[in-house]
Amino acid sequence: MVAQTVAHTVAHTAAHTAARTAAVDGAAPLPGGDAQRGPTGAASPAGQPALETRDLTIRFGGHVAVNAVSCAFRAGELTCIVGPNGAGKTTYFNLISGQLAPTSGRIALYGRDITGLSASGKARRGIGRAFQLTSLFPNLTVLENVRLAVQARARIGLDLLTVWSSHRGINAEAERCLERVALAAKRDLTVAALPHGDQRKLEVAILLALRPRVFMFDEPTAGMSVDEVPVILDLIREIKQDRAHTVLLVEHKMDVVRSLADRIVVLHNGSLMADGDPAEVIASPIVQQAYLGLPAEGEGLDV
Ligand SMILES: Nc1ncnc2c1ncn2[C@@H]1O[C@H](COP(=O)(O)OP(=O)(O)OP(=O)(O)O)[C@@H](O)[C@H]1O
Ligand SMILES: [Mg+2]
Repeated sequence: MVAQTVAHTVAHTAAHTAARTAAVDGAAPLPGGDAQRGPTGAASPAGQPALETRDLTIRFGGHVAVNAVSCAFRAGELTCIVGPNGAGKTTYFNLISGQLAPTSGRIALYGRDITGLSASGKARRGIGRAFQLTSLFPNLTVLENVRLAVQARARIGLDLLTVWSSHRGINAEAERCLERVALAAKRDLTVAALPHGDQRKLEVAILLALRPRVFMFDEPTAGMSVDEVPVILDLIREIKQDRAHTVLLVEHKMDVVRSLADRIVVLHNGSLMADGDPAEVIASPIVQQAYLGLPAEGEGLDV
């Protein structure tokens, strides 16, 4: 398949980069990167990618699930990653967040090579991923789950222990996260008793508690009822309005993509097929052609 890149219009320049500075000690600069940039990203020049993948590839036996994907994501920008089932979207996320190790290629966070880091190492450096229920403790309450994330975050920070040393402080932070996903009223329920949609909202609350610099959402509203969806979409919109955050969103629903995306990246058979301004990407012949050939996904994408 011929890869084609639609001219990418950067919708926003980064007015400022990460205000929250999880330490990135030990991460080496990416070859060809800017050696001047600070390790936290806080002193980085405007426009520098927050996250970048270069020729990122993973093979499963003879199958190339992600094929030499090079893409840069900037702070203050929300990128929707779309593509048919099996295109490699979740696998691309798994590579970035460290659940899978690439066969080849590199990943950089604010110019620092994080390719070889574990998932927890990447999380400590600011890669935030909701893990589709696997990160929840089912026998603890909703509030306890978020408290654990707040405490984990407090251990990472430089002087956050001082700030959050009190029980009250941790609780207040956890409750703020629950309020943002409209779960505060269910704070004392055990997670196992929650409906699926609420569990997914709780994952997002945990993500907020960890205060990542890069937010990765993989079909965040899947399994949610119609009235729950706007809560999460409004929250994602709010997150992207903080120019320190970079948001990657895998989404099949084209109305959601249209309403949130600053940019669309299309994966197809593991390869980057298009990347750019939403209207241009949706209108591009190569995308139209690809989706016209895929009836189920074509309907979903409504291109
Ligand atoms: N651990 C694995 N071992 C073998 N093959 C895998 C593995 N993980 C993913 N794949 C394959 O990689 C390809 C990409 O899968 P992936 O889940 O990334 O697609 P996707 O774009 O997220 O699809 P969907 O829209 O259905 O979620 C598929 O062919 C899948 O079967
Ligand atoms: Mg997937």
